[in-house]
Order: sequence, then structure tokens, then C-alpha cells
Amino acid sequence: MGLLPIQIYPDPLLKTVCEPVEKVTPIIQKLLDEMAETMYAAPGIGLAAPQVGISKRVIVLDVSWKGDKGPRVLYQLVNPVIVERSGSIEWEEGCLSIPEFSQVMKRSQKVKVEALNRDGKKKIIEGEDILAVCLQHEIDHLDGKLIIDKASRLKRKLYLDKIKKHQHTQSHPEVVF
Ligand code: NI
Repeated sequence: MGLLPIQIYPDPLLKTVCEPVEKVTPIIQKLLDEMAETMYAAPGIGLAAPQVGISKRVIVLDVSWKGDKGPRVLYQLVNPVIVERSGSIEWEEGCLSIPEFSQVMKRSQKVKVEALNRDGKKKIIEGEDILAVCLQHEIDHLDGKLIIDKASRLKRKLYLDKIKKHQHTQSHPEVVF
């Protein structure tokens, strides 16, 4: 197992609509495990396959994890679909693919998601607050939707100008900073 390189905005892959997974094969299980490892190492609370260069409907998340202390509640989900949503909540979100950027997002406060788990079994997850927010954020990634899309044109332009400057001075622009 190894860590996967995280794609950084404005990488065009982040804007694509990902393909559903036909079957949870050992290759998909390996992807799920490497994505979890990459998410914990980042560290982050969620990661979607397009963020590691794979255009498949696969996400991992763990909103409970606080470093190496305490238990992990890891979700590894394939083809996740939101089947119910209710309420609304505002959350300031960041994204591993958009370093040093955050955006207040309006989300449903509660969602019900259907997906396949790591064993290819159908699973229903009901989440609220941060779990609901994270599920919506990661499922958005599968449709090429990013939190920066909701920023004003000016905020987006300022951010792009900033990362252009970084790329000039960095020898390894793919590294998360
Ligand atoms: Ni993200």
C-alpha cells in the first residue's frame, strides 16, 4: 500500500463527472484502502477518487478521527447516492485539493446515502451535521463540483493568482502546502 498523490486545483480531472463502479473488485478495494491511508496522512476527513486522479465514483471519509488518539469510524463508499435530504446548515469547508482556501457552504443538515461498502454490499448511511456536510462535499467531487465554484469571481481570481505565484517558486507544485 502506498500514499496516492493528491491532485490540486485547477487540475482538469477535478472538474469531470466520474464513472460508476461496475463491481467492487480487489482493485477497487485496494483503491479504497490507499485512499483511506492518503486521507489520514494528509490529514483530512474525506477524500474522493478524482482527487487522486481516478475518475470513479469512490469516496472515503472519517469525521471522527482526531489524530492517532481514539477510534476510527471509516466509511469506504462506492457509487454513493443521496436519496434523502432535509434541513439546512452553513459550514466553512476546506478541501485537500484546494490548499489554503475555505468557503462557507450551504448544505442539507441531514442526508441519507445509499452506497456499496468495501465488500460490495449495499449500505445506507444516515448522517447529520459534519457527517452530512462531508458526504455532500465528497459526492460533489464525483460530479466535478468544487467548493471554489461557489466563491465569488473575485475570490476565485485572487486564489488563482496566489497559486500561480506558488508554482513559480515551488520545484514540486504537486506537494500539498
Ligand atoms: Ni474536497
